[in-house]
Amino acid sequence: MKGPATELIHAGETDRGVAVPLTTPIYETSTFVFENAQEVLAYNEGRSSKYLYSRYANPTVVSVEEKLAALDRAEAALAFSSGQGATTTILMAHAKAGDEVICGAAIYGGTLHLLHDLLANFGIATRFVSLEDLANLDRVLTARTRLVWFESPINPTLRCVDIGRIADACRARGVLSIIDNTFACPINQQPLALGVDLSMQSATKYLNGHSDVTGGVVCGSRALVAPIEKARRLLGTVMDPYPAYALGRGLKTLPLRIARHNANAQAVAEFLAKDRRVSRVYYPGLPSHPDYEIARRQMVGSGGMVCFDLDGQYDRAARVYDRVKIVKRAASLGGVESLVSMPVLTSQWGHTEAQLKEAGVTRGMVRLSVGLEDADDLIADLDQALER
Ligand SMILES: Cc1ncc(COP(=O)(O)O)c(C=O)c1O
Repeated sequence: MKGPATELIHAGETDRGVAVPLTTPIYETSTFVFENAQEVLAYNEGRSSKYLYSRYANPTVVSVEEKLAALDRAEAALAFSSGQGATTTILMAHAKAGDEVICGAAIYGGTLHLLHDLLANFGIATRFVSLEDLANLDRVLTARTRLVWFESPINPTLRCVDIGRIADACRARGVLSIIDNTFACPINQQPLALGVDLSMQSATKYLNGHSDVTGGVVCGSRALVAPIEKARRLLGTVMDPYPAYALGRGLKTLPLRIARHNANAQAVAEFLAKDRRVSRVYYPGLPSHPDYEIARRQMVGSGGMVCFDLDGQYDRAARVYDRVKIVKRAASLGGVESLVSMPVLTSQWGHTEAQLKEAGVTRGMVRLSVGLEDADDLIADLDQALER
């Protein structure tokens, strides 16, 4: 008879071949069992579809990666423990000491600091360039440029760049193009179809969509994803099975959620644009947006992010921020709940006046991640928060 420790560890851990699950179960295991040495040898030689260790691959994570690849119409996708994990792993896999990275100056703060504060220590030099330079890459790219990293739409002004044009300029010079597609997500924008080499997203946002998972993703060709997969093993930035399960569940309703995010954000943006208490509204779905035409060409829907300005006045923005009731005061975006933030307190915190001007950000800006509530309720909430 086995002791209770042995029993509790091994009893019940058998393959229940008769129960065929409809959904992919959570393979909450760090490692996988082999029958014999022959099986391990076959695995090592790439002749087996078995799994060895969850930092390398796990069936629940692979299942969500197959969904993510299908969504981006990519040959391959990888899931990471966070968006930052994805960004770090992509950059470490595709850039080396002596290389130059060109990065849009208007970029997620984590990306900026990773490049500027950390990767610079490893000999990867980054040049941060304006929107105009991104649109005219020929005047920026040098013989040392290894890759171009950019976003569209850009936080918080939702300015858009011509993605196909950037991809073409990079390809012509043998430079890798990489987009952070977090704000649009592949339902609204398909960067790989526009010619971009790699598409990265924070899965924490729209992909999961329920504000309860931290994750990241990259999609692209097998050839470009393979070195990232190798780096992910070494850096240990892989997604865990449980968040992979939750992400897979969230992805099943992504098209439905995005349609509603688009419709709600359009309604909110149109309400704000008509309201005389608001000095300016930033939404790519409004004809008044400077990149409305670019957005129409490359986006299917305009997304769930809306930003507005109250005459550049911090106090007025702070009052709206403090007064909303349904909309929650929280960082992040892309969840079912509408969220509000003030860019000068979050993404542009600590920026000088010159840096704010460069980013097109004022102290009176309010950013909304428009959720899936009833649009009329959201509009009523903003209406009361704006006061008379
Ligand atoms: C545009 C963008 N990219 C990347 C990230 C980083 O993602 P994560 O927080 O999942 O690491 C964020 C997070 O806010 C983001 O907004």
